[in-house]
Amino acid sequence: MRKFECVDHELVIGGVKATEIVQKYGSPVYVTDENAIRANYRNIYQAFSKKMPTRINYACKANTNLAILRILEQEGSCIDAVSIGEIEACLRSGFSPDRILYTGVNVSDAELRAVVARGVPINIDSFSELERLAKITTDHQISFRVNPEVGSGHHDKVITGKRSTKFGIPKHQILEAYKRAVELGFKPAGLHAHIGSGGQTVEPFIEMVETLITIVQELAAMGIELNFLDIGGGIGIPYRPEESAMDLDKMAAEITSRIKSKTKIKEIIIEPGRYIIADSTIILTKVVDIKETPDKKYAGIDAGFNTLIRPAMYDSYHHVAVANKFDLPAEEVYSLGGPICETGDVMAKDRELPKVEEGDIIAIYDAGAYGFTMSSNYNMRPLPREVLVKDGEITLIRESETVEELFRHQRIPSRLML
Ligand code: LLP
Repeated sequence: MRKFECVDHELVIGGVKATEIVQKYGSPVYVTDENAIRANYRNIYQAFSKKMPTRINYACKANTNLAILRILEQEGSCIDAVSIGEIEACLRSGFSPDRILYTGVNVSDAELRAVVARGVPINIDSFSELERLAKITTDHQISFRVNPEVGSGHHDKVITGKRSTKFGIPKHQILEAYKRAVELGFKPAGLHAHIGSGGQTVEPFIEMVETLITIVQELAAMGIELNFLDIGGGIGIPYRPEESAMDLDKMAAEITSRIKSKTKIKEIIIEPGRYIIADSTIILTKVVDIKETPDKKYAGIDAGFNTLIRPAMYDSYHHVAVANKFDLPAEEVYSLGGPICETGDVMAKDRELPKVEEGDIIAIYDAGAYGFTMSSNYNMRPLPREVLVKDGEITLIRESETVEELFRHQRIPSRLML
């Protein structure tokens, strides 16, 4: 878990005090530290690239803010995109089409045509997608996603690599897929798998890579040589204070040594989302209400599962701190309830915190990945602001929505106005 600086009892991020950010930009607000993104990117790139040629395809589903994409474009990252919307965001942020790999699931013909028109390589998820793409063009870079029958992840809902999931070409049919692609006139460039998200151990990655290597060897025996192996994303981070980070050097060594010794693969691709962006961002949210029930003490905050759905959706732990009492000792146990009218809208359960009062600012940690991108207008609440901090400067990178904007796509039939 990230350690933040403390000045005058206050949490400081990117050289700026939490209260200054809330005074200027209100709450709740997503606060992203630019330097943290750059450092995370460099860590993972260096761990692998010192072993073999490496391409990082940042899984932008984790966070598609255009300013954040610009930072990663400057770092030299490439992109894993899953929709035409994500592709458009990345093109707008300066990524050329060849730096994007589209890995969709249950892809419509309309989306396939749009991706082809944008010149973005396609990582194919099914035989149906292959045949439908071939009707549009065979002059396009493709690769295949295999279901490796190895799964890993922080919750059942995010384990993708198990045999029963909807993802990828079944392992026993993958050679047939390449054969068919060649018959159709494609020249497949690579092989991809993604076991799941938020795993904390290296072993499932190694097991998956061994499966991929066997497939690469079988393809080579059929005369099909691939350029890249894409091992997906899913590298977990320590959300809890007592957890430690995954050993990337060990992971890189274990994986690249196998690929180099057993195949002629030229490049490894990794698709981290969470690793790059999660700990760069906190949510600052104001305490608006204090309530003692017979069983629990609640501090009511103005960010709920409309702002960060992970606790409600996956029972995820996000660390919290009272940002304006950052170095004060814990005194009481609180649960932090949001403003959404559902019992499940509790952002943090039974946490030991300093005495919490109305007006205090709570920092919710590790909100950079799958935070804003999964936020919603539930209960008709406008989406919050996002700001970027760096070396003491704050910049607005997304304006908050207004209530008025929530109505912009609705139409009332005139007969209902009579
Ligand atoms: N590549 C593929 C094909 C993926 O499906 C994903 C995530 C990634 C890469 C990036 O995974 P990461 O490195 O971020 O773990 N909403 C969930 C996570 C869902 C991930 C979906 N796919 C959460 O909040 O934990």
